[in-house]
Amino acid sequence: MVGFLPIVNFNKSFDNNELIMWIDLSTYCNAKCPQCHRTNPNGLEKIDWLPLKQWSLEDFKKAFPKQILNKIHRFDFCGTWGDPILNKDILKIVEYIVDNSFLPWVQINTNGSVRSEEWWWELGKVGDSRLIVVFDIDGVTQEQHSLYRQNTNLEKILNNMESFSNTKAKATAFSVIFKHNRKSMYDIALLSKRRGAIGITFIESDRFFKLDDPPGTGEKGYIPTKDFIFVDRSGQKQKLQPSKFKATGKSEKGSHRQANDFFWVWWDLSNDEHLEKIRHASN
Ligand SMILES: C[S@@+](CC[C@H](N)C(=O)[O-])C[C@H]1O[C@@H](n2cnc3c(N)ncnc32)[C@H](O)[C@@H]1O
Ligand code: SF4
Repeated sequence: MVGFLPIVNFNKSFDNNELIMWIDLSTYCNAKCPQCHRTNPNGLEKIDWLPLKQWSLEDFKKAFPKQILNKIHRFDFCGTWGDPILNKDILKIVEYIVDNSFLPWVQINTNGSVRSEEWWWELGKVGDSRLIVVFDIDGVTQEQHSLYRQNTNLEKILNNMESFSNTKAKATAFSVIFKHNRKSMYDIALLSKRRGAIGITFIESDRFFKLDDPPGTGEKGYIPTKDFIFVDRSGQKQKLQPSKFKATGKSEKGSHRQANDFFWVWWDLSNDEHLEKIRHASN
């Protein structure tokens, strides 16, 4: 699947090298995040109707031959239905792009809990200074992180991120915020920084809907609920609660904070003022 941001004039954007390609390179995933579009919250298996698919290097070369690569502004391998690192050819695809274009950078979003530290080092070497990987870090303990990032291992992710960040490629962290990790945002930022991330972005989960109406079913639409109840793999009912970040609506300059000034912002972890804003928001 290839996604395009709304483009007023495709040809003009193509000619001006402005296109950002958002591509689902795979529908495979090791993780079982309860609110993900690919996850059935009733048992955390993949939703039935989603086929398991992935791009091969050959598919990619066919869609983006060498003469087209430099017309693209950026490749964004995040997607909606799986994790790009599960793609068997991801390393070769990154290598193909980097070796055959002048693209400023390629971005990959991942739960980071698969493959070895050696593999991650190799990916960083291949991507060099033109690859940025966004690692999901949702807590400072395994329990906190995996309440949402089910079936992932925080220590493994941190080791992988550290190994990757020892190359010229860049690692940054991404954190989905609920009630259970809202007060840990500053600690998550510090941990991410210590293990190699140059920055961090926080977002609030707003995917609160009824268990019998998961996203992706496309039939009933969403029925919003206060809490999100899911059934884990051992058949236990569990609960996720929204962060209820207290936005005041007042400006960032005053002592109050505004959700829009904080979430979806990329915070530079080498900047003390940014760290201070995260610390303030975590209170
Ligand atoms: C389906 S994931 C695909 C990429 C990769 N597997 C990952 O999780 O980073 C796409 C994006 O959705 C984000 N995401 C997952 N659960 C979310 C939630 N409950 N609310 C908002 N974003 C969420 C992920 O962190 C990721 O940035
Ligand atoms: S890691 Fe990404 S694709 Fe996998 S289940 Fe979680 S949100 Fe979905």
